[in-house]
Amino acid sequence: MDRIRIIGGNRLNGVIPISGAKNAALPLMIASLLTKEKLVLDNVPRLSDVRQLSRILGNHGVDVTVAGKRNGQDGEIGQTLKLDAEMIVDTCAPYELVSTMRASFWVIAPLLARMGEARVSLPGGCAIGTRPVDLLLMALERLGATIEIEGGYAVAKAPAGGLKGAEIAFPKVTVGGTHTALMAAVLANGTTVLHNAAREPEVTDLAECLIKMGARIRGLGTATLEIDGVPRLSGAQHAVLPDRIETGTYAMAVAMTGGDVLLEGARADHLQAALDMIGQAGATIACNNEGIRVSRNGSLLEAVDVATDPFPGFPTDLQAQFMALMTQANGTSRIAETIFENRFMHVQELARLGAQIRLSGDIATVEGVARLKGAQVMATDLRASVSLVIAGLAAEGETMINRVYHLDRGFEQLETKLGRCGADVTRISG
Ligand code: UD1
Repeated sequence: MDRIRIIGGNRLNGVIPISGAKNAALPLMIASLLTKEKLVLDNVPRLSDVRQLSRILGNHGVDVTVAGKRNGQDGEIGQTLKLDAEMIVDTCAPYELVSTMRASFWVIAPLLARMGEARVSLPGGCAIGTRPVDLLLMALERLGATIEIEGGYAVAKAPAGGLKGAEIAFPKVTVGGTHTALMAAVLANGTTVLHNAAREPEVTDLAECLIKMGARIRGLGTATLEIDGVPRLSGAQHAVLPDRIETGTYAMAVAMTGGDVLLEGARADHLQAALDMIGQAGATIACNNEGIRVSRNGSLLEAVDVATDPFPGFPTDLQAQFMALMTQANGTSRIAETIFENRFMHVQELARLGAQIRLSGDIATVEGVARLKGAQVMATDLRASVSLVIAGLAAEGETMINRVYHLDRGFEQLETKLGRCGADVTRISG
């Protein structure tokens, strides 16, 4: 299993091109199941989750081909995928394929909407809390589906005549629930209204692509989405939006090590809450047409309190990285996790590097300034792993990160991107 070795202490200087967002690419790829025509997606990151989803879609009969690559300064970044779901040959998504990636459960919606049935294994994915799918199933039931749980599978059937538009009120903001409801409602009979829909940019990206495919959706970017169902969708071409979590992660890395980096292609409007916090902590943030420039030269970092929240709030996917940053801040910072229970597995590993963090319920209290020293650590989930990388960049000496397959799920060319900015990061294969 690959490991990553970091020798900490170098400042970061240069340009980091931001990849397409994993969390947008996955639902967009799944949307290909909704049409017999080709969906062409540009700027898809080359990640193991994308490859795994290609296998899952392949099992349903989707022909996924790499139609082109985008060249960055140091090799390829991103790719164009052509997805052709002319024939759906199987409406079952088996446990062996679905268990490693939670988002693959979302295939249930387009399969149900187009084929009238789906049998999908209940999901696995990152070990952060129980992560149920009750709200996804509730949304499909509101559209008229019947759902049985049989042997670890959700078995969904549409009524004769297809799904029917309905009012769906989510009791809690759910990204996956909103993606699922959108993909089911676009082919339903009549109008669907989603109340308390997720407003994450990835939801808007999916909606924009669906509109290019012929869907009728109003209220993009708001908590109320209205969808008029259409009988069929067509093919389209769409570019995946830049990854705001990758952007925020590298911004925090620069804030932590010091230096000056342009996050090329990043969009500040997708990340304002996190940029505000990084700015309050002491980094300088400047946005221009090329992206976001983050710098810190000499100034001390200050402790800032943060609570995660659905968009436009501070993203839970940046909580672990911000905690790493706060270990280097002057003072005490309180970090509240309000989205997922049990999303603090990085705390113990950060402690191995010398961080001083107390946990009480859903609040972590970070005592700065800790002198971090390199150690062997283990990646436990995607975002937790990358918090160890940025802590390692600021630590003294060698940090060895084990089990890096989590990083490969979500960060394209991490070592290359950081290495070009002066970090000493090496992948050790085997
Ligand atoms: C997506 C993101 C993930 C991010 C999360 C929150 C992808 C591939 N993943 O995950 O990186 O951390 O949004 O921004 O896009 N919930 C229920 N019942 C449900 C569904 C969700 O109780 O049926 C709860 C969850 O346990 C959690 C909260 O709702 O507490 C939010 O989860 P949700 O927004 O659905 O997360 P995901 O879509 O799985």
